[in-house]
Amino acid sequence: MRSEARGEIIAKSGGDIWMRAPAPETTSLRQVVIAAKGCTACPLYKHATQTVFGEGPKSARMMLVGEQPGDQEDVAGKPFVGPAGKLLDRALAEAGINRDEVYVTNAVKHFKWEPRGKRRIHQKPSSRDIAACRPWLEAELRIVQPDVLVCLGSTAGQTVFGPQFRVTKERGRVMRSEFADKTVATVHPSSLLRAPDEESRRREYAKFVDDLRIALRATR
Ligand code: URA
Repeated sequence: MRSEARGEIIAKSGGDIWMRAPAPETTSLRQVVIAAKGCTACPLYKHATQTVFGEGPKSARMMLVGEQPGDQEDVAGKPFVGPAGKLLDRALAEAGINRDEVYVTNAVKHFKWEPRGKRRIHQKPSSRDIAACRPWLEAELRIVQPDVLVCLGSTAGQTVFGPQFRVTKERGRVMRSEFADKTVATVHPSSLLRAPDEESRRREYAKFVDDLRIALRATR
């Protein structure tokens, strides 16, 4: 069930409104998931199938945050289950990280897309979309309290470190952020899928696995 969001208005444009998402002050992940299901804090809910909330154990020592659900995630209602998710699973396993033991989420919880023929093409979330959705990520972090937060790609990196953040410059370092004492940024797995040739794909994948190993070491 959807209830019209009420709260602090972030922006208005062309009849659309962006508000701070109404994340409840609770330590129950289940309650937050239920509250997020009917989120209407930004216009993205209008064209998405459902809210795709984070998944993983509350006891997770590592949290990974991506950009937003993709086409397959939007349908499945689960984060990182499409092609980028499969690559992430492989890289996590190679780095010695069990996906079942980490918490995986996104900066934005609805799929933003535009139609191209019959296809739904991913659109980058705006800073307003990210700001509206931020309370959900803050709630996940408050409840899970991971030792290490891993930012996958520039949207996640900029959500956590601000708009000046450049993943290419700062990747693979353990840094303090407002969200977690230990934060490691790396590239988004979908960037590996777009690598121009086999050689660069292999090289970038190896660097991605190295960054995940750095994050794993920081959990100890
Ligand atoms: N890309 C993301 O950033 N998140 C997902 O869940 C899937 C693809």
